[in-house]
Amino acid sequence: MAFLHSSVFSCFAFVVLASTLIHTPQVHGREIESRHVVSVHSLLPSSSACSLPKDLNTSRLKVVHPHGPCSPIGTGREPSHAKLLNRDQARVDSLHHRISTASSRESTRSSLAATIPANTGGSLGTGNYIVTVGFGTPKSDLTVVFDTGSDLTWIQCKPCSSGSCYPQQQPLFDPSQSSTYSNISCSSPECSLLDSSTCSASSPCRYDIEYGDNSQSSGYFSHDTLTLTSSELVPSFMFGCGDENSGLFGTAAGLLGLGRGKVSLVSQARKYGGVFSYCLPSSSSSAGYLTFGGGAPSNVKFTPMLTFSDMPSFYFLSLVAIRVGGEQLPISPTVFSTPGTLLDSGTVITRLPPSAYVALRSRFRQQMRKYKTAPALSILDTCYDFTGYETVSVPTVELVFGGGTSINLDFAGILYVAKVSQACLAFAGNGDVSDVTIIGNVQQRRVNVVYDIPKKQIGFGAKSC
Ligand SMILES: *[C@@H]1O[C@H](CO)[C@@H](O)[C@H](O)[C@H]1NC(C)=O
Ligand SMILES: *[C@@H]1O[C@H](CO)[C@@H](O)[C@H](O)[C@H]1NC(C)=O
Repeated sequence: MAFLHSSVFSCFAFVVLASTLIHTPQVHGREIESRHVVSVHSLLPSSSACSLPKDLNTSRLKVVHPHGPCSPIGTGREPSHAKLLNRDQARVDSLHHRISTASSRESTRSSLAATIPANTGGSLGTGNYIVTVGFGTPKSDLTVVFDTGSDLTWIQCKPCSSGSCYPQQQPLFDPSQSSTYSNISCSSPECSLLDSSTCSASSPCRYDIEYGDNSQSSGYFSHDTLTLTSSELVPSFMFGCGDENSGLFGTAAGLLGLGRGKVSLVSQARKYGGVFSYCLPSSSSSAGYLTFGGGAPSNVKFTPMLTFSDMPSFYFLSLVAIRVGGEQLPISPTVFSTPGTLLDSGTVITRLPPSAYVALRSRFRQQMRKYKTAPALSILDTCYDFTGYETVSVPTVELVFGGGTSINLDFAGILYVAKVSQACLAFAGNGDVSDVTIIGNVQQRRVNVVYDIPKKQIGFGAKSC
């Protein structure tokens, strides 16, 4: 039935969203959304034009992909899809390692204490999205990656003695030119908020953060004014002024930490009441938003935000089921609940428990059998060649969370399109049943994701950017 509609929808190829849901009447009388029909033209991002959301007003920060026409720091040299996906696996390996180490630490704390770096973030890779914020007075606009898996915000700062900073697109922040900048002293209680600091009697507090892929930043722990949007300032914001930095940060000036720890932006900017939300764009030629505070729109549905006591900065939730084409896959909820589910802005591809991935893949393949298959792409093993089609029809994929809240993924959240002849199911299986499930950023595309820390809930609203 889906295919009958194909010719009708192909004439909407010029529409930005270019995706239509097919509703199938079910025997139980409930109408369900079973397939997305999308024009093949719309699968690939435009290489020249950036489309902004209509409602991107001054109270929202623009969120874009680090490469492509919307990026203020795009260099044109985009890493290959295979390289990006391989780095994504490195981030996931590092998250899995951190989480398993954290959960086994209770019993073996004494023997491991000496060897576990206390202050290790997730691996960054290049899968993160970027925002531009202002540091200092007068403000310097700097483009930073935003990461819900990190707490500390840092930027590269002058003086970077030769070789101790990586090349960035924008000028380095110069603290001596900001009238509101100050170092945090070693005797200040703020210095002890850091997991890892170095202090000697007369010198200011220094931070040192290492990420799982050996990326690192260290420098002075500082105060300065952070300008989010023209009207939104965070005075005396604590951040790292890094004079020794290296790693996979692309050409971004640093990182914006949106975790739940004490030094994260969300914890410091109390006026926003511990609430923020974002919408990740569907491609590198469109923009989404990041916003702080405020009430959630009525289409947002909430599920409990869970805390993993050994990883208190991370956002966990409970994934209970997956529906493909409107039908629930035969997976026991304990498959998800045993290792737990992490919501991460910096992981690209969602990682499912091995048996859940196999069930998803098999149902998806069955519903895509009319299409020619294409070679695997790095960690993605279910790919299709859409050459010669004007429109394609793909089964819907819905993630069901605790409390009955579900999110019907956008088309852009189901397929990772490297090219028209290689569009892959954007999920992968974990190596081990005990590895944590991770909801990655491809699946969050176009969804308004609301983090409400005081109410301990995470909300999802479809088609928000
Ligand atoms: C900005 O847009 C949001 C969402 O459309 C709206 O709720 C808010 O009132 C707008 N703010 C301004 C200053 O226009
Ligand atoms: C911060 O500390 C560094 C190192 O001691 C020093 O060079 C710099 O002048 C200090 N900045 C301010 C504003 O005090």
